[in-house]
Amino acid sequence: MTAMWTDTQPAAGMPRLFERGEDLISFAGGLPDLDLLPLKELSEQLARLTRLGGRIALQYSTPHLAKALVPAITDLMAREGGSAGGAGNLVPTAGSQMGLLALGLGLATPGETVLCQTPAYPGAAAAFRTAGLRPYGAPEDAEGLDPQALRATVARLRAEGRQVRMLYCNPTFQNPTGATLSVERRHQLLDVARESGLLIVEDNPYGLLGFDGRTFQTLQGIDPENVVYLGTFSKVFAPGLRCGWIAAPEPLAGRLRRTTEVMALSPSAFTQAALAAFHARSGWDTLLDAYRERYRERCGLMADALQRELGTDGPWRWRRPDGGFYLWLRHTGRAGTRRLAVAAAEQGVSFVPGGHFGLDGECADTLRLCFSNAPRDRIAEGVSRLAVALRDAETDAKVTAETDSRAGAGAGAGSYLSPDSDADSDSDADSGPDADSGTGADSGTGADSGTGASTGTGAERRAA
Ligand SMILES: Cc1ncc(COP(=O)(O)O)c(C=O)c1O
Repeated sequence: MTAMWTDTQPAAGMPRLFERGEDLISFAGGLPDLDLLPLKELSEQLARLTRLGGRIALQYSTPHLAKALVPAITDLMAREGGSAGGAGNLVPTAGSQMGLLALGLGLATPGETVLCQTPAYPGAAAAFRTAGLRPYGAPEDAEGLDPQALRATVARLRAEGRQVRMLYCNPTFQNPTGATLSVERRHQLLDVARESGLLIVEDNPYGLLGFDGRTFQTLQGIDPENVVYLGTFSKVFAPGLRCGWIAAPEPLAGRLRRTTEVMALSPSAFTQAALAAFHARSGWDTLLDAYRERYRERCGLMADALQRELGTDGPWRWRRPDGGFYLWLRHTGRAGTRRLAVAAAEQGVSFVPGGHFGLDGECADTLRLCFSNAPRDRIAEGVSRLAVALRDAETDAKVTAETDSRAGAGAGAGSYLSPDSDADSDSDADSGPDADSGTGADSGTGADSGTGASTGTGAERRAA
């Protein structure tokens, strides 16, 4: 029997994000700040829904999206120039994570290559691998996905005999970098995708969370016939409801619906009804404005603290994002950040090492900080703890390098600043042109223990 990818990756390659110690300041998990949810209003709506419609809302439903929820989704998608289409185009999910797996199982054939923006949300590669697909890094330049290079990459992979049919991306306020693809690039990307027969998968949890309210037209809005769009209520409402949707051209939506039916029989009618009721009564404006304002403030506090603590002429580089949940730091000296996560945990602060967002251990010199859920009065303290860990690491590295050079050993071997020494030097890494193979597979120690990410060989990783 063929091993499932999840057999060799027990934690499905997902970082452990939700740990909280008493004094730990977590910049790890991408959690929304639910302090802003109007709980009293919501509980009244839920009580009413249970009282008046409980026997229907708590029954099995069908794999079709509840009609009552269509206006709520249409409203959200229209804000970014997208079009939900009709009920025939919409497939309910228990969040985009389920949508990703449904896509991999329902629209692709095991063994196919799926191009992925890299770094990327690790759940995407995990879902694709679980479906037996082979994620491969899509070419990028300083402005993000590079459409011209993409054309050449697709041609090359096909000449090598690979089946390449999908490109996965998260073009707006990306997880983990916070970056947004320009409108010009979006059009170019869609043109190349059409010419190359590539279906675009657009994952868009953060598009409505621009700090100044600015939105960018979704790829789906520009070319609805060639984009499968993953929407979710997790970041604009609450993830605990586990409710999202896929918007796709009708024939693809039909296939996806059949797949989701096998996965879950039917979505939760109750959570769909709850969201529909909330939207009908309150609309999205107030909550979205509150979230945006909150995240704008948190991001500002974190970026200002980073500036104070790490400066601009040190080894760390980052950009202030315009929306979303994340700040992405890169070490110009290629420090392996998995080890730094251990040092940071000792100081009482957590983050996600960048290797989690690479396909095969690349991005090991980066780290992701999440500001969305950190208490405002703890952000400066958290960043100052982080800076201590990062500075200690630099000092340790210098001492180690000096000692090593006096002893005639390889400078910096095993130090915080060297790429992680226990890296999986996977020369067969399936991670595309920018792959930095061999620099820091996240096998998980200390703060990051038990994540189980990327411990297998390249061959194992593709063996699903
Ligand atoms: C880019 C991206 N896609 C998908 C997901 C999964 O979200 P959901 O809660 O809708 O399953 C996340 C969650 O953080 C994400 O950042």
